[in-house]
Amino acid sequence: MIQTPEAAPPPSAAPQSESVLGPLAQIPPGEGRDFLVAGRSVAVFHLRGGAVYATQSACPHRQGPLADGLLGGTTIVCPFHAWKFDLKTGTPLLGTCGITTYPVRLTETGDLVLTLTNEPQQPAEGGECPGPGFNLFSKDEAGGRPLPATGS
Ligand code: FES
Repeated sequence: MIQTPEAAPPPSAAPQSESVLGPLAQIPPGEGRDFLVAGRSVAVFHLRGGAVYATQSACPHRQGPLADGLLGGTTIVCPFHAWKFDLKTGTPLLGTCGITTYPVRLTETGDLVLTLTNEPQQPAEGGECPGPGFNLFSKDEAGGRPLPATGS
């Protein structure tokens, strides 16, 4: 009897996983915080108007801590050399390389839920990025602050 291979699954979107990061209240309005999510360092920003955004933690220029940057509207300015990024898209507004953004939402009870994707980072034209999975911090620290551990 001849065995035929099983049909390959249909192409689909990049794999995703959701992680609950805890209450939004742990991030004061107008600030960002780093989280370690499934081995990836992610910066989550709580805008003064209540909106939340998430990006890679490390600036693609020289790995500055974006969570410690200056928030203004929906932009973040890196605290090291002032590269500026759009939090909605990751587009560089000042600098040559974009950042990875992640979908983040709030539950009815005010918890942050982050969706990780495995899509590759797309550098801006002419720029070079370290790529996805790049982590600035060890698993135990982020600029002197503990990184909240989350599920995978
Ligand atoms: S490290 Fe962010 S602008 Fe240089």
